[in-house]
Amino acid sequence: MILASVGSAVGLGNVWRFPMEAGRHGGAAFILVYLVFVLILALPVMCSEFVIGRAGKANAADSFKHLMPGTRWPLVGYMGVLAGFLIFSFYVVVAAWTLFYTEECLRGALLADRDFGLFFSDFSSSAWHPILFVAIFMAANTAIVASGVQKGIERVSRWMMPLLFLIIVMLAGFSMTLPGASAGFRFLLNPDFSRLTVDVVLSAMGQAFFSLSVGIGCLATYASYFKQDVALMRSSLIICLLDTMVAVASGMVIFPVVFSIGAQVDAGPGLVFITLPHVFNAVLGATPVVNYLFSSFFYILLLVAALTSAISMHEMVTALLHEKSRLTRPQAAVVVALCAMVCAAACSLSFGPWRNITLFGMGFFDLFDFVTAKFMMPIGGLCFSVFAAWVMKRQFVERELCGERPSRSAVWAMTVICLLMRYVAPLCLVGVFFYEMWNWSSQ
Ligand code: ALA
Repeated sequence: MILASVGSAVGLGNVWRFPMEAGRHGGAAFILVYLVFVLILALPVMCSEFVIGRAGKANAADSFKHLMPGTRWPLVGYMGVLAGFLIFSFYVVVAAWTLFYTEECLRGALLADRDFGLFFSDFSSSAWHPILFVAIFMAANTAIVASGVQKGIERVSRWMMPLLFLIIVMLAGFSMTLPGASAGFRFLLNPDFSRLTVDVVLSAMGQAFFSLSVGIGCLATYASYFKQDVALMRSSLIICLLDTMVAVASGMVIFPVVFSIGAQVDAGPGLVFITLPHVFNAVLGATPVVNYLFSSFFYILLLVAALTSAISMHEMVTALLHEKSRLTRPQAAVVVALCAMVCAAACSLSFGPWRNITLFGMGFFDLFDFVTAKFMMPIGGLCFSVFAAWVMKRQFVERELCGERPSRSAVWAMTVICLLMRYVAPLCLVGVFFYEMWNWSSQ
């Protein structure tokens, strides 16, 4: 159960988005704020989603309906599904880049001395090439969701996730040995608080929500399958810890390389794709066969991590469409895939031929990312935590979080989490919401 949720949480958000955001926003100070938000916002929201999902025994919208019939609370679930769809639409673009790199790696084309910045921008800015890879990834995703075999994929990810983490830790060890790597570690560990602006703080919050897949009801849906003996608080803590470890370890792979090869630390979405091939070429330094096997294995594992996260979002939208329409499950999965394909094509083109088409100063890819991570997920998170902390019975929530006979330390931790759910998370999120509205309207 924990590993299925970890499969949904751990993905490109950790390996691709976390270094990108940390690079853009000044490194260590951003990471510190991110860690605080994981603890004070994402963790209580995750606990709330788990409590609501297990008590409601359904997807987020129906869980609200079961727990509070005749109210508007189910709208939170529907908004979550919409957010899941939008995230899915731009997520598959990055997954398609990963698929392309996996294919190139298997062909041996990544183990060469070349300008990987140019290599990435050539591919991501071309019109049809990335869309073709999006289509392949989408087809695989749809086949899995339509045939309902995601349980099998989750079982596979049980051993692939720890392996991915192990490889990332090994790569971090290799990165450390690079000339100039210490500048990368300083960037990661030495906070420069003068760079902490409101925008950096909001981005750290968005990253915490995105990385842990909270605020969209995805975890509530998973929790509806949990047995009663699963201690929700302990599980949430483990998921947050594992997810954060993968993210920080990825940063420790990427930044030493960035500084060693003199790449731009704020290179944006291409950062990981530009730097990782250097790790495999320059850092491993073993025989070409070992380099080839190691890098191929890494990209395959990353692809599986992307797949397990993408499946959880695709599944959420498909399940709702299947329930609310006359479509069969495979038909619903295909309809969702086709709609997402249109949005994904727009997101992909915003790196190339459509780069001048903007809304609020952002291309489609950035706009989808911005709206979901900085608006929809925090608003969803606010609603989940308010519902669990203020609408549900307190004793019930506490029993769900810690079980019937909690230890003394569990009671202590639960008291802290309940305080976070009741006061800290809602106040922070309301503040964020008003700031975002004010900022948006004054632009
Ligand atoms: N939480 C998912 C990820 O980080 C979306 O990849």
